[in-house]
Amino acid sequence: MALLILDKLKRKEMDKYKDTLYVLYGSRTGNAKAVAVLAHEYAKSLGYATVLGDMQDFDYGELQYIENLLITVSTHGEGEPPVQAERFYEQVHSTAVSSVKAKYAVLGLGDSSYRYFCQTGEDLDKRLATLGGQSVMGLVKCDIDFEETAKEWVRDAFVAFKGILPVVNKVDSAGFTFELKSGNNPNSAYRAELLEKKMLTTADSSKKVLHVSLSLKNSGIEYIPGDAIGVYGTNSRAFVDELLQALKFDKAYPVKVNEETHLLKNRLIHEYELTLITPLVIRKYAALVQHKALDRLLDNEAQLEAYAAEGDVLDLVLDFPGQISVEDFLSVLRKLNQRLYSVASSRAAVGDRADITVKVIENNHGERSRNGVCSSFLWNRLDVGDKVPITLETIAKLRLPEDDNVPVVMISAGTGIAPFRAFLQERSARQAKGNAWLIFGERNSKSDFLYQEELLAYKSSGVLSELSTVFSRDQDQKRYVSHVIEENGAALIEQLEKGAVIYVCGSKDTLAVTVRQSLLRIFAKYLKKDAEQALAYFEALKANKQYQEEVY
Ligand SMILES: Cc1cc2nc3c(=O)[nH]c(=O)nc-3n(C[C@H](O)[C@H](O)[C@H](O)COP(=O)(O)OP(=O)(O)OC[C@H]3O[C@@H](n4cnc5c(N)ncnc54)[C@H](O)[C@@H]3O)c2cc1C
Ligand SMILES: Cc1cc2nc3c(=O)[nH]c(=O)nc-3n(C[C@H](O)[C@H](O)[C@H](O)COP(=O)(O)O)c2cc1C
Repeated sequence: MALLILDKLKRKEMDKYKDTLYVLYGSRTGNAKAVAVLAHEYAKSLGYATVLGDMQDFDYGELQYIENLLITVSTHGEGEPPVQAERFYEQVHSTAVSSVKAKYAVLGLGDSSYRYFCQTGEDLDKRLATLGGQSVMGLVKCDIDFEETAKEWVRDAFVAFKGILPVVNKVDSAGFTFELKSGNNPNSAYRAELLEKKMLTTADSSKKVLHVSLSLKNSGIEYIPGDAIGVYGTNSRAFVDELLQALKFDKAYPVKVNEETHLLKNRLIHEYELTLITPLVIRKYAALVQHKALDRLLDNEAQLEAYAAEGDVLDLVLDFPGQISVEDFLSVLRKLNQRLYSVASSRAAVGDRADITVKVIENNHGERSRNGVCSSFLWNRLDVGDKVPITLETIAKLRLPEDDNVPVVMISAGTGIAPFRAFLQERSARQAKGNAWLIFGERNSKSDFLYQEELLAYKSSGVLSELSTVFSRDQDQKRYVSHVIEENGAALIEQLEKGAVIYVCGSKDTLAVTVRQSLLRIFAKYLKKDAEQALAYFEALKANKQYQEEVY
């Protein structure tokens, strides 16, 4: 009898999975979460039983029982899952999950300017199929302007699940609106007052690096060192004028958006990505203008990618002119996205304020100088007292150890110093005792020693145990951070063996690559490891969070 009751209970438990739609999300900045919330709310309004889950807390062991599943997941880093979904992603790809019986649909969120567009969505979609899941509709990928595609996906998913899922509750659409509630957009951003803006490099430097201080008074924004601030910039008026001229469009052309009319020029300044283009943007433009040379470019993937990496929307229009209407042209463009900046301060030191360190992007290509949209917005178009739309990226990849006795080694070049300034302010306020070693590289000591006075003061007061600086252009032979690492290999290994956390922040193309190579070399030399063992050691440090990197 007891066995029968247990059996009945178990069957009832399993029925729960049969009749329930699980909506799982993996999201870093809230976009995939916003879609999942919409799907969950929509399911409830249709009378379905539904469970909403964050991959961060989800018990992957349950995956084998789930029968109806929607997944929304973004991609971060270079084709990696968002930090919050890393564990779930790993478990699903390991032997920990051996089979899946769910009928499922996956929505990947991403940015087509990245090489691995929606990679995590793609990986999870494939993996679920391999494990025995049954896709009810193919993987759908959303670009940066994800809202419309995502809403369509939600509607399509429910069409696919109709007839599969039983309606178990009263259909209740009262109060339900089919809208994405949050996600990242400038309208939901906090408008922070610009308190201070100063150049950290001198006038004779080959670059401009800015220190920007923003007020967080009454914002409710609670950051910790390692977080990043997202800034929504606007395009320069002069650049938009050039573009309008090239297209022979009237700047006052009325553009209708949700019953409101806006001037074309203002739409281009505030809403569209003009300094960055992607192969997809080029393809969409090509389909509308019919240009032979452009068609040839599309046939060569490598050249197409190189063109997209170098060019902007004005190049596209000037290099491949053609007849195009305003509406078609706007349909080609992507939504203007925020830019992230590592927080360079600690609340313990600065209170209701957040500092950022910004390199002003000014690239000269031929006759035209190209300015980065957000860095030049901060440098040229804002004054002290102006409001800056910002959001907070709470989960970054760099985190100080909870135990202040744990040694830290911070390796940076250029603006990569920003999160470490935050670390040092925090450690100073906490009177952290562990060894703190900062390695910092720039071009010239006279013109580019960012935060020089502060860093020297930290060294004198002991907040920094070691300060190693390297300036590539101070001597004939170029020297970089990687040289410092190799010259100090024995000391670095000693810190590692004492449990130190190594942090790296700066350029992904230069710093990250050379630092990794140098670390592998010192692991081989001082720990007597062959290449494979050195790599395994490095991977173990990463898995253990003893190596943390934020590179961009
Ligand atoms: C997690 C994270 C943290 C970041 N932290 C910082 C930070 O602390 N400080 C900081 O300055 N930046 C930081 N960045 C980079 C920042 O988000 C922007 O990408 C950068 O400021 C360029 O934006 P922009 O709008 O000015 O230029 P865009 O309009 O985006 O780019 C215009 C053109 O410049 C090129 N370009 C972009 N960056 C560079 C570069 N560094 N050198 C040369 N050409 C470039 C682009 O490819 C494009 O062709 C971070 C990025 C990430 C992902
Ligand atoms: C630092 C960073 C790295 C990113 N890397 C990728 C990538 O490799 N591939 C991709 O398709 N999208 C990439 N994206 C774009 C995000 O996936 C996209 O903005 C998505 O809408 C974020 O969704 P979320 O808020 O749910 O995390 C990246 C975004 C950031 C900020």
